[in-house]
Amino acid sequence: MKTLEQLRFQYGDELPCMEIEDKPAYAYRSFHIDTARHFFSIDVLKAMADTAASFKLNQFHWHFSDDQGWRIESAAFPRLHEIGAKRQGDHFGTYSSDEIAHDYYTREEVRELVAYCAERHIEIVPEIDLPGHVTAILAAYPELSCTEKPQQVRTSAGIFPEILCPGKERSFEFLFALLDDLCELFPGKYFHIGGDETPKIRWNACPHCRRRMQEEGLADTRQLQGYLTNRVAAHLRKHGKRVICWNEAALGENLDPDIIVQIWNDDPKDPSLKALSRQKDENGKPTSPNQGIGAKLIRQGHDLIISNMRGSYCDYPYAYIKTAMVHDEPIRLQNCEDIQKEAEEHTLGVEALIWTEYIRDRETLEKMAWPRFAAKADRAWSGDDAGDYTDFAKRMKVLFSYLQQKAPNAAAPSGWMPGPFRAMREMLSFVKNVSVKQRKSYADAQDAV
Ligand code: ACM
Ligand code: ZN
Repeated sequence: MKTLEQLRFQYGDELPCMEIEDKPAYAYRSFHIDTARHFFSIDVLKAMADTAASFKLNQFHWHFSDDQGWRIESAAFPRLHEIGAKRQGDHFGTYSSDEIAHDYYTREEVRELVAYCAERHIEIVPEIDLPGHVTAILAAYPELSCTEKPQQVRTSAGIFPEILCPGKERSFEFLFALLDDLCELFPGKYFHIGGDETPKIRWNACPHCRRRMQEEGLADTRQLQGYLTNRVAAHLRKHGKRVICWNEAALGENLDPDIIVQIWNDDPKDPSLKALSRQKDENGKPTSPNQGIGAKLIRQGHDLIISNMRGSYCDYPYAYIKTAMVHDEPIRLQNCEDIQKEAEEHTLGVEALIWTEYIRDRETLEKMAWPRFAAKADRAWSGDDAGDYTDFAKRMKVLFSYLQQKAPNAAAPSGWMPGPFRAMREMLSFVKNVSVKQRKSYADAQDAV
């Protein structure tokens, strides 16, 4: 239907005679929006989903919980939306405001969005990021951390040390009841439980966590994260869900193989590995423990979703994550030459993402997403038959006013691949947001993951 809709846009009511052979190369074609760092109304999310459906994306990965906000009305734990959804200001990057913001989606709105997406063949994949990126949850329920110290919903970007304590049984009781409640709202097949960027500083010092590791025969805190992830996944399995987590959750090498892993930083060309990492490989080159993790996971039997930062993170300026990079990024893993067939079978698909630390309004959200989300969709639908970026750009230009009807703020063709002056302007305004202090905090946190 979407192919016909696009053709009708191009040709009007009389289509030329043609034969269409059309099926998706990848089953999982996803877009991600973070509504924790900044809140977007249900109407904005509906518009994004409607446009996504036009380009045959079929999963909406909804990141609604992070250090800077919990965003869904909770029947099980009302303090989540009463306290976790309230923030005493906005100090991301160079922006600064002390205005209090209290934003969350009512259960009714969530149901409405689930139904709206379902009508467009999009399934919502809810994500509770855990055990890290949970300051908003801990602001509401501080007893769930190792230190149990009071927390404030964070007002700026970063990776923070207070995370959920898997040593205490009450953390699991909380998570299970929370997930039971959320499963009522989200009927889909998948559930994402995060797992990225979890510094283990508190776990190392926590008597409960240390006892848990000893009792469960866990070698280190990475394995403790695997234990936590496996237990939560087992609970979700009772609801019939397939569980997804970010690639760091696999670092302990004890993850149940039926957990799907979403790869975001297994990319040898990623300059942020150099910029942020203090770890070196045997040749003295900057490296990350996540390097090559995808190939390892395939060998262990995991299914994967590929969304490496440099081909998928559409909140970065077009000058940095160029539309061609999003389109042409191969859906393949490094170091899989000898297991090509397995790698193909275990690759469910891809995702294009928007994080919203520095995105506050609908105009910017749309401009950053479109057409890069459509570029990812083109690759996900057509696989290697998608041609290269030049081919995509030609087709996208024909459909540009179709895109604009749905996303009026989509980037104009002149912005898809910025020239040097525009690129410099975009990059300067972006790097202003990321202070030296923040880069150091990321590096410290990466070292402790
Ligand atoms: C991530 O970008 N931290 C998944
Ligand atoms: Zn603990």
